[in-house]
Amino acid sequence: MDISFIRNLPKAELHLHIEGTLEPELMVVLAERNGIALPYKDTEAIRQAYQFTNLQSFLDIYYAGAGVLQTARDFYDLTWAYLERCKEDNVVHTEIFFDPQTHTERGIAFDTVLEGIDKALEDAREKLGITSHLIMSFLRHLPEESAFETLEAALPHKDRIIGVGLDSSEAGFPPEMFERVFEKARQEGFIPVAHAGEEGPPAYIYQALDLLKVARIDHGVRAVEDPALMARLISERMPLTVCPFSNVKLKVFETLADHNILAMLDQGACVTVNSDDPAYFGGYMNANFQGLAQDLNMTEAQARRLAANSFEASFLPEAEKRAWM
Ligand code: ADE
Ligand code: ZN
Repeated sequence: MDISFIRNLPKAELHLHIEGTLEPELMVVLAERNGIALPYKDTEAIRQAYQFTNLQSFLDIYYAGAGVLQTARDFYDLTWAYLERCKEDNVVHTEIFFDPQTHTERGIAFDTVLEGIDKALEDAREKLGITSHLIMSFLRHLPEESAFETLEAALPHKDRIIGVGLDSSEAGFPPEMFERVFEKARQEGFIPVAHAGEEGPPAYIYQALDLLKVARIDHGVRAVEDPALMARLISERMPLTVCPFSNVKLKVFETLADHNILAMLDQGACVTVNSDDPAYFGGYMNANFQGLAQDLNMTEAQARRLAANSFEASFLPEAEKRAWM
């Protein structure tokens, strides 16, 4: 498949952690700007360190990397760099996760984080023609109480945050632990989503659906282990925001050729392509599409359906979705 076909296809990204777009070059700049010593001698050494054996081995490095983010300007620069990549890849709409607790836990105010990210989103609407939403994610390795505090901090900013998510270490931290905070978030008008079935079992996907009442499942690739669950996801057209490069880097699949995204697509599931943490996993949106073309023989018709699914599964108003599909 021609790269220009992928490039020309308008796409929405629905599973992207803004902290996961921190490229080594910007990490070095921000470390210098903020007087922080990095445990690496140069950007090459940073990239060398990105060899992961599972989700946790990645998260340890990812949370450490986020330590260079200190000021609203840092969050602006981070977000703006990602939005420029969106422009290159013809990602016309993006729904971005941020992890407030990664920053509030080290003394950076919630409002500082939001201010920087939100200003970049506003500028991108104006200067790049890219629309966006923000989803704040609770870290599931931290206690419920910390998630409740994060929700409290977000209440004055409801107009700028469309949803709540659940991420970080999955195994041993089932969705049921966060049923109450998700209930409060839904009452406050936030749309719920959750990472489930990345490393965790199908039972976690059921909990995300039935207890957290999510509108999308992030990852969800382990759903194929349970045919009844797959049938439900298909009949409900429950979106799965799948991240092919991420799954290979974190050893959910051995190679991209082993990935189940196109099999799920052909079964009728509403799967979408996303880059998750592109600075750590080796590629942004179009690189993920290109990987599927190369290693899974994705056809143009499949690519078109994946792109259409990304708008269908987005939180855009119906008329705007239709305009892109
Ligand atoms: N945080 C950032 N990327 C993540 C992923 N792939 N799974 C869980 N938490 C994350
Ligand atoms: Zn993720």
